[in-house]
Amino acid sequence: MNAPIRDWAEVREIRRAADETWWVELDSPAIAGRARPGQFVMVGLGVEQVAAPFLPRPFSVGLAGPDRTVGLLLREFGAGTRRLARLRDGDRVLLLGPLGQAFSVSSDRPVVCIAGGVGLAPFLFLAAEQRKLGRQVRLLYGERTADRVFSSELIEELTGVAPIIYTEDGSAGHQGLVLAGIRPEEEPALLACGPTPMLQAVARLAIEHGLPLQVSVEEHMGCGIGTCQGCVVRSASGEWIKSCTEGPVFDARELSWPT
Ligand SMILES: Cc1cc2nc3c(=O)[nH]c(=O)nc-3n(C[C@H](O)[C@H](O)[C@H](O)COP(=O)(O)OP(=O)(O)OC[C@H]3O[C@@H](n4cnc5c(N)ncnc54)[C@H](O)[C@@H]3O)c2cc1C
Ligand code: FES
Repeated sequence: MNAPIRDWAEVREIRRAADETWWVELDSPAIAGRARPGQFVMVGLGVEQVAAPFLPRPFSVGLAGPDRTVGLLLREFGAGTRRLARLRDGDRVLLLGPLGQAFSVSSDRPVVCIAGGVGLAPFLFLAAEQRKLGRQVRLLYGERTADRVFSSELIEELTGVAPIIYTEDGSAGHQGLVLAGIRPEEEPALLACGPTPMLQAVARLAIEHGLPLQVSVEEHMGCGIGTCQGCVVRSASGEWIKSCTEGPVFDARELSWPT
């Protein structure tokens, strides 16, 4: 496997895409040239830019643009992401990547992506790549409320795919959980990324209907490169495995799911 690239990347553009949610484009030809959908980068700030240095944070590669930029979907959760959201054009961040395992997509069947919250990010990249190859993509995307929904115009601009949106309160798109959009009798295979309860529900449904499923997990990560053990998940055989190196994308059958 290739060693990850460390790159001081300049912010080309940062635009608001929803409440406390941003689309960030970074100039990083080396990482953009190698990244595959499902992989992630660790994003850090130089010590000169912050009062107290913080550990780098993991973000899915949201796009590796034809202009060799890396696109990130950035949602504010805590101190680190709030600080990153204050970046401006021309600022620089330290990227390490691409890291982790990518989704594996077969060419002979349509792709069905199930995204919850920031779990949308890897599917922007995947959908854009698949559309370039002329393949069909069904993108189901759930959020709690309309103000959290990443701009559907921007999703279409980036990917060429119109998302099917679900919100829990019905304030945008269909009312209900994104799971409601899955058609188990018709879907050939599923890809999912989002919070653990969503992944557990999709895994139960896939097992019940015998559907192939790949999941991308969102565990907390300290290092992103396999040294801190902060990101472990339980395998189907009961062992702890590192999601930063063996994942974040797994065949759902490799993991242990509560029944
Ligand atoms: C592989 C991977 C890909 C990711 N991709 C994206 C992405 O594309 N866009 C995006 O906006 N975010 C993404 N995330 C999540 C992002 O890394 C976290 O939101 C970020 O690290 C939080 O840092 P912070 O300093 O803002 O918050 P912290 O101060 O570290 O935490 C704030 C709060 O959020 C909780 N929290 C932090 N990280 C997580 C997590 N991973 N899961 C559940 N709760 C958490 C903490 O427990 C705390 O309550 C990804 C995470 C992983 C592991
Ligand atoms: S994040 Fe450090 S071992 Fe996975």
